Amino acid sequence: MEFTINPLSGALGAEITGTNLNDPEEGIIDAIKDAVHEYLVVVIRNQSMTPAQYATAASRFGTMAEQHMSDLMMKDQPRICRLDSSIVPLDENGKPKLIGSGNWHTDHTNFKRPPKYTILYAEKLPSKGGDTGFANMQKAFESLPEDEQAKLLQLKTANALVGKPAHTTDEDMEKYGTPKIHPFIRTHPATGKKAIYCHPQKVAYIEGMDRETSLDLIADLQARTINSNTMYRHKWQPGDMLICDNRGAMHRAFHDYDHTEGRIMHRILIEGEVPV
Ligand SMILES: [Fe+2]
Repeated sequence: MEFTINPLSGALGAEITGTNLNDPEEGIIDAIKDAVHEYLVVVIRNQSMTPAQYATAASRFGTMAEQHMSDLMMKDQPRICRLDSSIVPLDENGKPKLIGSGNWHTDHTNFKRPPKYTILYAEKLPSKGGDTGFANMQKAFESLPEDEQAKLLQLKTANALVGKPAHTTDEDMEKYGTPKIHPFIRTHPATGKKAIYCHPQKVAYIEGMDRETSLDLIADLQARTINSNTMYRHKWQPGDMLICDNRGAMHRAFHDYDHTEGRIMHRILIEGEVPV
């Protein structure tokens, strides 16, 4: 089958078919990386990978990073986080505390060098629901008036583990929990495009503001910029391996499925650079 790249929406996202990442032909990895930088989200269809093969395939895109949910890392593949909806704890109302925020965010902003890519492999899917939303935060930034862009370019966020998220250990808190300062608008190192960059739940504050004002500003901005022009909703297929460029895209989970069916995603993060 021929290697093809097809856009999935006008906002972001592309689908790649005709390659086997267990044995990629020469030049394929570079072609996929270029597509990731252009489309921000790329899904490589019809893969069939054991955890070990997945780790090998993912590491072709960079160094696999640590993650701050130590409890969920696979014992024999310590860089793969197993997100299994059937074994999550329940909250005080008996509702499952599913991993994967239902709010728009980017991953692990509490790292000094946050991961450039989040990679997900669909191990098991629910019978219905469980899509993942992606938003092009470069287009979101471009859609704003110039004077607002200029103001946002001045802002810096302090990013920390606010509270103690589920599945983090005391050691995780010590290692990854302290505030890291990042620009609110970051520039993509490959394309030079600027994007709104944050994980609201990890924003301790925007410099010069209290937390409430900071979160209000982010919520207002997301409400005005994430829409049908900037967003794509991914319906998973078995064998999808999806790469999201965290430097330009935000994502969110849709928790509209029966969690007891066991939606299982294997997540790998690829080390990134200090945001500028
Ligand atoms: Fe996430």
